[in-house]
Amino acid sequence: MLSERVQNAMNNQITHEMHSAYLYLSMAAYFEDQSLPGMARWMRLQFEEEKEHALKFFDHLIDRGARVKLQAIPAVEVDFASPLQIFEKAYAHEQKVTGLINDIYNMAREENDYASMKFLDWFIEEQVEEEKSTGEVVAWLKMVGDSPNGLLHLDHRLGKRKAEED
Ligand SMILES: [Fe+2]
Ligand SMILES: [Fe+2]
Repeated sequence: MLSERVQNAMNNQITHEMHSAYLYLSMAAYFEDQSLPGMARWMRLQFEEEKEHALKFFDHLIDRGARVKLQAIPAVEVDFASPLQIFEKAYAHEQKVTGLINDIYNMAREENDYASMKFLDWFIEEQVEEEKSTGEVVAWLKMVGDSPNGLLHLDHRLGKRKAEED
């Protein structure tokens, strides 16, 4: 059985993951509006991934005999300044999520909750990937600068992102 503290943190994390999903969906909408279908696809896949993350916490709570308590998902921004600004926000967002995952891990460790620590290992690795992939796009967009050609090329490249299987 999960401690009250870990249960609450994991319930909160479901909301954070759904909030991430919602944020990326909003970014996808912006890219669709800007006629950048590749970046829109990239964000849409990110949206799908974040929903999966929420479900992993959902399932872990259920598997451990805890109660899932869904909360309101905070509203997200709908207006953005540029592709670079969006990916910078995404990168900062993933860094914040890494901190949240680390906090839950710490809690689980303090309580000798080995099953949760093992469960959270997946997220610790995933966050390395998430920070890497968003940070990489920030770097590419900086290289592209004001070049429309470069932007279209990058859009094409990001549009080739494959849906992940786990
Ligand atoms: Fe996530
Ligand atoms: Fe993420």
